Amino acid sequence: MTLHKVIFNPGKIEVEIESGKTVLDAARLANVRIIAPCGGHGTCKGCKVSIDNKTEFACKYIVERDLEVLVEELTNDSKILINEHLHVVTSSIGKLGLAIDLGTTTVVAELVDIDSGLPIAAAGIHNPQATFGADVISRISYCTSHKDGLEKLHKTIINCVNDLIAELCKRQNITIMHIKSIAAAGNTTMQHLFLGEDVESLGQNPFEPKIKNSVTVKAADLGINIWPQGDVYVNSPIAGHVGGDTLAVALVTKLAEKNEKALAIDIGTNGEILLSDGKEIFACSTAAGPALEGAKITFGSSGCMGAIENVKFQGGNLELKVIGDVQAKSICGSGLIDLLACLLDAGIMTNTGKFAKVENWPEILQHRNCKYDNHQAFNIFKNIVFTQKDIREAQLAIAAIKAGFTTLCKQASIDIAQLDKIYVAGAFGNYIDPKSAIRSGLLPKIDINKIEFIGNGSLNGARAVLVNPQERIKAEMLADKIKYVELASDMNFMTAYSEGMFFP
Ligand code: FES
Repeated sequence: MTLHKVIFNPGKIEVEIESGKTVLDAARLANVRIIAPCGGHGTCKGCKVSIDNKTEFACKYIVERDLEVLVEELTNDSKILINEHLHVVTSSIGKLGLAIDLGTTTVVAELVDIDSGLPIAAAGIHNPQATFGADVISRISYCTSHKDGLEKLHKTIINCVNDLIAELCKRQNITIMHIKSIAAAGNTTMQHLFLGEDVESLGQNPFEPKIKNSVTVKAADLGINIWPQGDVYVNSPIAGHVGGDTLAVALVTKLAEKNEKALAIDIGTNGEILLSDGKEIFACSTAAGPALEGAKITFGSSGCMGAIENVKFQGGNLELKVIGDVQAKSICGSGLIDLLACLLDAGIMTNTGKFAKVENWPEILQHRNCKYDNHQAFNIFKNIVFTQKDIREAQLAIAAIKAGFTTLCKQASIDIAQLDKIYVAGAFGNYIDPKSAIRSGLLPKIDINKIEFIGNGSLNGARAVLVNPQERIKAEMLADKIKYVELASDMNFMTAYSEGMFFP
């Protein structure tokens, strides 16, 4: 067996790997974060690195000699949705707990004062499992196709949580022994990976979770660095594709307690949707894909420094708001939804998602017509463009979410106009302009006063069950009550999906 040395920069991280393995294999071995959206199958072009000053794809580049690889640094300056209303502790340290949102893309941990229930500090990080795939399907596939796949993904998320704990302890000047318990919520796959449980059944029909109820384990047994006797409570999943994070949303929006007709939409890598008709609660999950989080979009990104988060046509021209007030270098989900709304309003794009003839564009904007990779595109700023393919990606994501809530409404015989409320959860949902969301079709046409953004529902729900045993009982009753609707076998879904491909 011939071994080669691979050095990853920045950081000069060195690893030895067998000849014939890929640069992505070497990165995984060295714990270097290269985001591999398709899980290394060579289909997404998302794992770019630089070798000998040339752009290469980490999952395709075979190591046959010693190499130096330049990796784009992942910063944690994203607007990862942490609680912005943190309580400042002035007295002695009380009993502390940790609420965790186990997101597919980002993981957020919040230190909570158990007695008062108030959050005192929070930290978020990109989920390092992205090296094994951007979505849960790729990660399940990695686990089922590699003997040590589950163990690797489990260890990766446990290490990630331990890193967040270490950061919070340092910041608050406490030790891990001060943290007495944890409550975590995530989608069903993330919860299984966190617990180190087999995910194979989640990758095949009928997508039954192995763990069907809430779980309490000792922190020490999971390898989590808090007071070793401390418990880790993980929310009950609702179904294979609807996890404890959606249960958390149902809990914090009090869907079962209010006599209202309400939708709750959690927009993340998947779109999880809940509908209450005032008596029953239905749930579904739509494969929205990561486009609304900036992935699969030519100049897309998460809500990080330099991302365009807001777009407006002002005085006939384009006005951009960029995160960090720096020069724009990408566009994130909320900017994307704004841009779609602007393009529709200006007649630059038709309701089928195609660019209109340039002579029909407002004259002042015609110079923004351009070509990118031989396809028509709209120039947003300097070299940042929005292509026909990008429109298609966004259209597919919006159609999936729209078809999800339309199907649930049909199931419950509720007309959209009858809805009393729409709750929008998720990092993306917190920064979105409701008018643009309606204009682009992401949210139904409804009085915007009925739309309420609840922030990170998963984290808020985890905090609720962390500090209050009564909330655990409520959550477990809710998990039994919520009726899961499998969209793939619902006749209305495909019709709603094709109709949803048209912008309003
Ligand atoms: S092309 Fe390499 S991870 Fe998708």
